[in-house]
Amino acid sequence: MLETEFCGARLKNVTRLASGIMGVNAGQLIRVAKEGAGAVTMKSIGPRERQGHKNPTCIEWEHGLLNAVGLPTPGYRNYDEEFEELKALKKINVPLIASVYGSKWEEFREVAAYVAEKKPDAIELDISCPNTEWHDIQFACDPQISAKIVSSVKEVAGKIPVIAKLTPAANSPVQVGKACEEAGADALCAGNTMPGMLIDADAGRPILAFKKGGISGPALKPINLKITYDLFEKVNVPIIGEGGICNGRDALEYLMAGAALCGIGSAVWQRGPGVFKAVCGEMEAWIEENGYTKVEQLRGIAHEK
Ligand SMILES: Cc1cc2nc3c(=O)[nH]c(=O)nc-3n(C[C@H](O)[C@H](O)[C@H](O)COP(=O)(O)O)c2cc1C
Repeated sequence: MLETEFCGARLKNVTRLASGIMGVNAGQLIRVAKEGAGAVTMKSIGPRERQGHKNPTCIEWEHGLLNAVGLPTPGYRNYDEEFEELKALKKINVPLIASVYGSKWEEFREVAAYVAEKKPDAIELDISCPNTEWHDIQFACDPQISAKIVSSVKEVAGKIPVIAKLTPAANSPVQVGKACEEAGADALCAGNTMPGMLIDADAGRPILAFKKGGISGPALKPINLKITYDLFEKVNVPIIGEGGICNGRDALEYLMAGAALCGIGSAVWQRGPGVFKAVCGEMEAWIEENGYTKVEQLRGIAHEK
């Protein structure tokens, strides 16, 4: 009932583990896959070693998480072993999405060229991380820069589908999404965290060591849901709806807005890897009760009313 196809890959269900939530550790990704995720995404891989930010890097608040992990990476040349271990995903038929980042388009291409040799099922471009010092705004705020990154990665990606991960901080995420589609993106993700901050009133200082961070979890849902809805009317490539999906109803909302897949991040942090099975069970119950037979029947139905 929840099976689907996404960019040429078969998925057992429409959920995917969002990038960065379970670190880069292959064992953890395999565990999430075995616990029921339809697809899994690696933490973003960068060009060279980078430490990330000092603690605290992630805190839980009333409406989700605020994080500024700062894209720690050992650099792409050090991922051979992990990709080797991740081949185990093939045996259980769970597609692997690799995620890459850079501080300029040349670096995105450099990392993507390495990653493409490892033959993941898709490559996602993290053009939307709010927590870096090289860019006060994210690349995904700018349609032209985003398109340049996509087209240069497409040159090295061969047949591997490329996903552009958008930011809710853009003036028009739809314009950025359209520019990425025109540049060759095979799918879009709506989207990454929203820049924000929290202050510890007693201490009189920002809670995160990096001061500012990205808001994820329930506070993000109505924002990225709208972007998914708007994109569905303007682009033809599939959309991954992501932001604040904690239960089956949240996932259904994204599908009805037009998502083909539902990304789950913060809820794994909060509810553990069992969240995928729980979300799928809740979706199946709703689908059955409401007289549908396939999840695809729900895609975009909120546009018809
Ligand atoms: C601790 C943490 C680390 C993250 N790291 C990455 C990352 O490396 N690359 C990326 O594209 N997104 C990263 N994200 C964003 C998530 O993949 C996801 O897009 C976002 O959290 C919204 O989904 P959610 O509300 O379900 O968490 C991170 C989010 C969190 C909370």
